[in-house]
Amino acid sequence: MRNAREQLIVAMDVPTLEKVRQTVDTLGDAVDFYKVGMESFYSLGQPVLDEMSARRKKVFLDLKLHDIPNTVANGIKSLCRFAPVLTTIHAAGGPSMLKAAVAAAQEGAAKWNVPRPKLLGITVLTSISEAEWAMIGHTSAVRDSVIRLATLCREAGVDGVVASPQEAAAIRAACGRDFLIVTPGVRPAGGDMGDQSRVATPAQALADGADFLVVGRPILAAPDPRAAALAILKEMEG
Ligand code: C5P
Repeated sequence: MRNAREQLIVAMDVPTLEKVRQTVDTLGDAVDFYKVGMESFYSLGQPVLDEMSARRKKVFLDLKLHDIPNTVANGIKSLCRFAPVLTTIHAAGGPSMLKAAVAAAQEGAAKWNVPRPKLLGITVLTSISEAEWAMIGHTSAVRDSVIRLATLCREAGVDGVVASPQEAAAIRAACGRDFLIVTPGVRPAGGDMGDQSRVATPAQALADGADFLVVGRPILAAPDPRAAALAILKEMEG
């Protein structure tokens, strides 16, 4: 059983290395786990990961790989050198790509002598509406597709998925207890929703089966980010 501190991941959506350092220092021991995504990795590069490792913070490297199996496998192997705890691939890459990624995580970890990163599948982006999903050519409902893609991930040996808190319970039911569910779109009770629409409170997301919560602005944009993080941890424990 993980405690709240192990389950909280703060989205490091900040524009400069200076701000990265300042954020990690401000949050201090309240937060051990950070999500580094395309925005900060593409603009700041490896130094953002070096900052995390210098401060002994765990990293969820969210780069959402989606390509042919060989390319994704080599990409995952290369990313292993940053020793992320979690990293992401698109489930829509298909079973061969997913299996290649799983094998590559194992090989990459051995090559760089780091723990194997856990792989999370991206199912259907939460920004996609039913109408857009149909426009791409899909005939099943988004929710059914999410469950299908999560099941494909599990069958390929992928460790879990990123999902809306509102899909967590159905994924848990379909994929079982050992499958990781990481949910963004978490808002403290009474908090500002920002541009998120399908949100849940920290307690609700955990009750629905989430293993990790990704929280950005409710902490980063708070007048006192450390106090905001501590309040969210308290809500998670409650
Ligand atoms: O600021 P906020 O708490 O909304 O940040 C949530 C983080 O999770 C952001 O980095 C956002 O890009 C990411 N995310 C999301 N919804 C998804 C996938 C990722 O909000 N479906």
